[in-house]
Amino acid sequence: MLASSALAERRLFRLLQQSLDGSPDAQAESAVLARVLGAHLERVVDSSGLPPEQRRGLASRLSATMAAYEAAARNFLAASPQDRADRLGALLASHRRLREILEGELARFRDAAVVGAAQLEALQRATWLPAFLRDLARNSERANHLNRAVLATQEFEARFFEHTAAALRATVESGPQPSGRSLEPDLALLGDVERLAGLPEARALSGDLRNAARRVDALLRQPLEPAAVPTLAAAVGQVVERLEALRPLLEVERDRALADLALVNESVVSFVETLSAASLFALLVGFLVVAAVTRAVTASLDALRDGMDRVRQGRLDVEVQAAGGDETAEMAAVFNRMVAELRESRAKLQAYQQDLERIVEERTRALREAQAQLVQAEKLSAVGELVAGVAHELNNPLTSVLGYAQLLEADPSTPEDLREYARVVVREADRARHIVQNLLTFARPQAVDREPVDVNAVVRHTLEVPRADGEGVRVETRLHPEPLVVLGNALQLQQVFLNIVRNALQAMRDRPGRLEISTTRAGDRAVVEFADTGPGIAPEHLGRVFDPFFTTKKVGEGTGLGLSLSYGIVRDHGGTIRVRNRPEGGACFTVELPLAQPGHREAAGP
Ligand SMILES: Nc1ncnc2c1ncn2[C@@H]1O[C@H](COP(=O)(O)OP(=O)(O)OP(=O)(O)O)[C@@H](O)[C@H]1O
Ligand SMILES: [Mg+2]
Repeated sequence: MLASSALAERRLFRLLQQSLDGSPDAQAESAVLARVLGAHLERVVDSSGLPPEQRRGLASRLSATMAAYEAAARNFLAASPQDRADRLGALLASHRRLREILEGELARFRDAAVVGAAQLEALQRATWLPAFLRDLARNSERANHLNRAVLATQEFEARFFEHTAAALRATVESGPQPSGRSLEPDLALLGDVERLAGLPEARALSGDLRNAARRVDALLRQPLEPAAVPTLAAAVGQVVERLEALRPLLEVERDRALADLALVNESVVSFVETLSAASLFALLVGFLVVAAVTRAVTASLDALRDGMDRVRQGRLDVEVQAAGGDETAEMAAVFNRMVAELRESRAKLQAYQQDLERIVEERTRALREAQAQLVQAEKLSAVGELVAGVAHELNNPLTSVLGYAQLLEADPSTPEDLREYARVVVREADRARHIVQNLLTFARPQAVDREPVDVNAVVRHTLEVPRADGEGVRVETRLHPEPLVVLGNALQLQQVFLNIVRNALQAMRDRPGRLEISTTRAGDRAVVEFADTGPGIAPEHLGRVFDPFFTTKKVGEGTGLGLSLSYGIVRDHGGTIRVRNRPEGGACFTVELPLAQPGHREAAGP
């Protein structure tokens, strides 16, 4: 500011020098300068932001001096060149007086502006922002933890029911026997829940849950006698009760943490906005004063003002170049620093938020998938138990029917027409036995040997099996160039692929098209895709095709067991099977199986 006032002064001296030399232009300009200075001074007063009384005081001080100054200037210019030297003293004195007043006022404004900037800086460094950011981090971590606790509870629930259903199934099928597996490893999940939730209530519930689960486990690890069933039912009931209390507790707490997070986020944004508006006002007043004094710095001040306006509108991409004196440059630097800090905090905030959104999205997806698998597993185990009993009961009479019919057919004394009936009975009984066999396989997975199997080879063998359907359908394969070795049972996997292929061929019976089978490797999994150009699957059926007995085929044509059997087999192999409709039409089944670790070999039961 002083620098700019010095600049104005230098200009004045130069003009005086020129007018002493008698240059008429210089004289004219000197008069103009006086007028311009007068106008500047008015603006200084107007924009000073002083209370009206002080403003009047300043105006009258300035105008008195200004009048004296003008008179001296006029006097000076009217004099002959010889006299001018004498009158210069008077002119310089009023000039000095004017300058003093100006400098005094300017210094006051400068102090005010610097105080404004200092306040701004102090605010910027205040503990608010870091505290907000800390809050934000803490809340987002909490929301995350709670989400993971909800997932761990879900997983425990799934494992508990799977374990219990398996033990019960074994008892129904083969009579009272101790369960070979313990629930103990799954209880570790509850430890996770307690640690992640950090809620005394959740800890208490989870402790109760653990005790109840241990009671169930203890009962299942002994042969289950009928008398013990009510005790078991009661213990399972307790587990369910605790789970039902724990899950909503965690979910409510997680949603609350997410809501808190949104709140903190909002506060930071409004804080940043208030901060900008309040401190910018202080700076603005100071800057306006500076702008009134000289044009030399007007450009950079305009830039500053523009910059501030833009910040106020929420744009943080501004940087001000200061072309003026020291003070202006200093203010521009303070301003730039402030904007940079605002920019930084806003970027941090956005990064936190995006991170969080991504995590929540991932978790929600994982949760949904886990739930779908859980529902499917429950359906299978419920139907499985029922089916096992019925199929077992059917097997004996069917064996007799088949046996006697075969005897009748083979007996030479049977008349020809009766022999024909016997043949029909044999054929149909054989079909019935086949269905029963399928039911049993589904309900009671046999212990099978697992060995390294190349999925590519299984696909090739599947296509060698003669097919009744599929006239005119083009089957294309695109196999991964290297063997995709999984640990499994080749016959079972072939059964899965055959079911899928057969379904596709049946679906394209009326309008022969194409079936593309491809194998690829995705990380540590082998992926097999079967894409057909048939009619696809009705959207309302998409969620049901893996259900036991779900079929759209005519009675006698399909039992609806193919895909549910396949589902069970793939799951026992540690894999997944999914279906979707292709955008270009047709259905696409995807089977994913974990690749074998090199050198791994084992024989495993179901
Ligand atoms: N590629 C496909 N295109 C269209 N629909 C299909 C396809 N694959 C399966 N489906 C539908 O899924 C249903 C269930 O299939 P699933 O193999 O379980 O039983 P199914 O073929 O009807 O009987 P089964 O296999 O016991 O003979 C089918 O009835 C059919 O509606
Ligand atoms: Mg089928």
